[in-house]
Amino acid sequence: MNKQWKLGFFAPIALLGLLTCSAFASAEDGVRIDPRNQAFEEAHPDQYHSWKATSESEEIDDALAGDPNMVIMWAGYGFAKDYNKARGHFYAIDDVRQTLRTGGPTDAESGPMPMACWSCKSPDVARVIDERGEDGYFEGKWARLGGEIVNPIGCSDCHDTGSEKFKNGEPELAITRPYVDRAMQAIGKPFEEQSRLDQQASVCAQCHVEYYFVKDAKNAVKFPWDMGTSVGEMELYYDALGFADWTHGVSKAPMLKAQHPGYETWRDGIHGKNNVVCADCHMPKVEREDGTIYTDHKIGNPFDRFEDTCANCHTQSKEQLQGIVSTRKAQVLNMKLTAEKQIVAAHFEAKAAWDAGATEKEMEPILQDIRHAQWRWDYAIASHGVHMHAPEIALEVLGTAVDRAADARTKTIRLLAKKGITEPVQIPDISTKEKAQAALGMDMDAMNAEKEHFLKTVVPKWEEEAKAREAKY
Ligand code: HEC
Ligand code: HEC
Ligand code: HEC
Ligand code: HEC
Repeated sequence: MNKQWKLGFFAPIALLGLLTCSAFASAEDGVRIDPRNQAFEEAHPDQYHSWKATSESEEIDDALAGDPNMVIMWAGYGFAKDYNKARGHFYAIDDVRQTLRTGGPTDAESGPMPMACWSCKSPDVARVIDERGEDGYFEGKWARLGGEIVNPIGCSDCHDTGSEKFKNGEPELAITRPYVDRAMQAIGKPFEEQSRLDQQASVCAQCHVEYYFVKDAKNAVKFPWDMGTSVGEMELYYDALGFADWTHGVSKAPMLKAQHPGYETWRDGIHGKNNVVCADCHMPKVEREDGTIYTDHKIGNPFDRFEDTCANCHTQSKEQLQGIVSTRKAQVLNMKLTAEKQIVAAHFEAKAAWDAGATEKEMEPILQDIRHAQWRWDYAIASHGVHMHAPEIALEVLGTAVDRAADARTKTIRLLAKKGITEPVQIPDISTKEKAQAALGMDMDAMNAEKEHFLKTVVPKWEEEAKAREAKY
């Protein structure tokens, strides 16, 4: 009796508490992590409108057409199908749907890529991990949650948008992927203990980094930082793990694909060493006509806003600094092409050795050199902007790529001689993207047709599903 009375007395209070909580939750934020960028327009118009202006960087620049060597270097891997240079954050979802690399899935279980492939494209990733846990996000193929991952990179990728602080207009930066948190701990820089400047760099490091997909049932994202973030340290890490992204289509070498180690190379460059962070150049503080200061969210080329970026710290003119940067760009490009010439030849020579009957044991040291050469080439150039961020690192690493390729070629030529082949190995015509793809026997028409079918039939369903869900937020 007594007990019941107590229950009867407290229950309404508890219920009231619950009700207020849920009423608050549904009125204020029906979803805990709101992935819709537009939802923040009213509260933070300056940030929203400048963010939206990343859509002005809309040009698609076909990197393989510009440099067909890369088709050969990525033979047997998705990047040989197509690879465009980065453009505005606004297009991240469009671009990952449109690239031939994600294929033309027809249902949740088809297509070449895993879920992990969405990880750096959308604040929906943060939302889905929050709702289903990391395992619930990562499992399965890329097409499984196509209807869930629909908003391009935005507010809830870099901010704790549900917090009171953020609502009040404070930055409240956040790491929104647990695997990034773990990587920061691995290099002794837990996010909560970082300075404000370090945090400004770390939000970019959620995506502009080297990462790989763990080869198990879940295919989760991991950063290979356990031994450090330099090219040699990550190479050691991958070697110790016996990890390969793919087997090369020409040489059969166990290859590594560098993603975009922009954060890692920036750290080792002059600005990183002086704690000049990504936001100092890519997201400067700017003043509105009424005198309000806000962070410009139009992440793009800092030279477009020279007065708010470089000129804050440098006295040189824009022309002078741009001149230095473009000279360095030309130097890096030149060394990139130098390395490619050697690595492409190494792949074809290795193939000739296999064709001449070389054994796995004979090939192993050669393939290891090719793996290291190309990993170094890729690390140096995969992060666009490296000629600005750390040109000395790019040039040094490319130098070591040439060295490893030279080792591979010397060994192969000796091996070929042992097999009685002394003629130089012929390299097919790879002077254009189309010719290089044809040399590899790639059926581009079929891939394009498959992609078109996917964009016409599957994507509209994803959009509908998302619309219905978001209407309930
Ligand atoms: C790529 C990361 C990134 C994205 C995406 C992003 N922000 Fe920010 N935001 C920042 C950084 C960095 C700062 C500056 C932090 C500081 O000053 O310490 C900032 C600052 C802010 C601030 C604090 C006031 C100010 O202007 O400095 C607000 C409010 C804000 N952002 C809103 C938004 C909104 C709204 C969106 C989506 C439309 C958004 N942000 C998207 C990184 C991001
Ligand atoms: C959630 C992942 C993610 C985060 C966080 C992120 N980026 Fe990006 N960034 C990308 C992707 C993906 C692209 C390429 C988009 C495309 O081409 O569709 C890109 C493109 C860019 C570009 C090229 C833009 C252009 O117009 O050519 C710059 C510059 C850039 N990011 C800088 C930054 C900086 C600085 C930060 C941190 C303040 C940051 N990014 C945070 C994923 C991210
Ligand atoms: C000292 C200034 C500065 C800092 C710090 C800086 N950047 Fe850059 N970044 C630039 C400039 C300038 C360019 C364009 C270079 C050019 O015009 O060739 C650029 C280019 C880029 C690009 C390539 C854009 C494209 O479309 O090719 C990306 C991506 C990028 N930066 C990301 C980052 C990230 C991530 C960080 C921090 C880890 C960072 N940047 C730190 C100045 C900076
Ligand atoms: C927040 C301050 C800051 C900003 C913003 C900044 N820099 Fe720097 N920059 C530095 C510091 C510090 C150094 C290294 C110390 C020195 O030599 O003055 C440096 C060095 C340099 C150097 C010489 C480095 C070398 O490799 O020899 C160049 C070139 C340069 N910056 C270009 C730029 C450009 C271009 C921008 C704009 C896109 C820019 N910086 C933005 C602070 C800044």
